[in-house]
Amino acid sequence: INNGVGITPPMGFNTWNHFACDIDENLAISTMDKMISLGLSDVGYEYFNLDDCWMASERNAKGELVSDSKRFPSGLKYLSDYAHKNGLKFGAYECMGTETCQGYPGSYGHYAQDAQTFADWGLDYIKMDWCHTSDPELNPRLVYAELRDALNKTGRQIFFSICEWGEDSPYLWGKKTGNSWRTFLDIQCSWVSVEVCVDRLMEISKYAGEGGWNDPDMLEIGNGCLSHDEEVSHFALWSITAAPLIIGCDLNSIPDSSLEILKNTEMIAVNQDKGSVPGDCIYDLYPKQIWTRKLSDGSVAVVILNKNIFSLDFEITWEQIGLSCKTVSKLRDLVEHTTHTNVANGWTENGLKSHAVKMFRAYC
Ligand code: DGJ
Repeated sequence: INNGVGITPPMGFNTWNHFACDIDENLAISTMDKMISLGLSDVGYEYFNLDDCWMASERNAKGELVSDSKRFPSGLKYLSDYAHKNGLKFGAYECMGTETCQGYPGSYGHYAQDAQTFADWGLDYIKMDWCHTSDPELNPRLVYAELRDALNKTGRQIFFSICEWGEDSPYLWGKKTGNSWRTFLDIQCSWVSVEVCVDRLMEISKYAGEGGWNDPDMLEIGNGCLSHDEEVSHFALWSITAAPLIIGCDLNSIPDSSLEILKNTEMIAVNQDKGSVPGDCIYDLYPKQIWTRKLSDGSVAVVILNKNIFSLDFEITWEQIGLSCKTVSKLRDLVEHTTHTNVANGWTENGLKSHAVKMFRAYC
């Protein structure tokens, strides 16, 4: 949507993947502090988002949402002020249904009231989930649009994240309704899940762009379930497909190698490229996948993924990845941070490791 936010894919942090319901005010504060001290805010991660379980089990007498008084005694307005004072943005979670997925009060019947509460609290991002929506009145296309209108009416610019899990092909209607839409069910902390989530993005890149993004779900980097190569591949694939880059690990104990991946500014630049269509898969024959994105400066980003459990040799030609020149004047390796000049015809690589990627940016 054209609400002034989500011009490029959102970058930030969300509590769900690592902490689920085990969240409180101290975690919020310490994570925001870490976003800054670890240099993540410097490279673009700006949103701190609370997921499910921040609210009290009942609304107040006026029907308004309130935060859990034990775990969030100072309230969400206090946390959003804290974020803003520190140059960050603040987001939260609710659900379109009668309850959230974890059984807290849902927004159904309160859309306008809750949108106003979000604005009053100074939220910059709201993720709206899809649990407890069996009432036939809950048509996702209609109710998400209703919430969009309610958010617009508040006058506050709030990134609107649609979390409908891809069931009603939200890529077809998401861009006029929200700033991002989930394309599938929840990511799990496993390599198989990373592959499944990214595969859902095939052939839908054209529906996304400025103001509205395909969302294959949040990052699992730093959660200890992926090998180093798998973490690099996860980030490369989310970068080239212009997916939201929402960190989902514990920043108080993130391994240095994971932090380095999340801070790869050359990959982030591909993700945040302005004015170009997100990358898509141009070759998918097991065990090899090739994803490309034509960037706004005319260069082409390419990710070659080895899905095999063994190493793989590969060869690509410049023609195959959509370049019009025979010789690439500059070939930048976005993982190794090395540059090759005047490379004719294409690239041959022997021994790309299992579940690893080669990620280049090629300039004619
Ligand atoms: C389902 C969503 O897809 C997840 O990302 C997370 O928000 C949980 N619900 C929370 O209950």
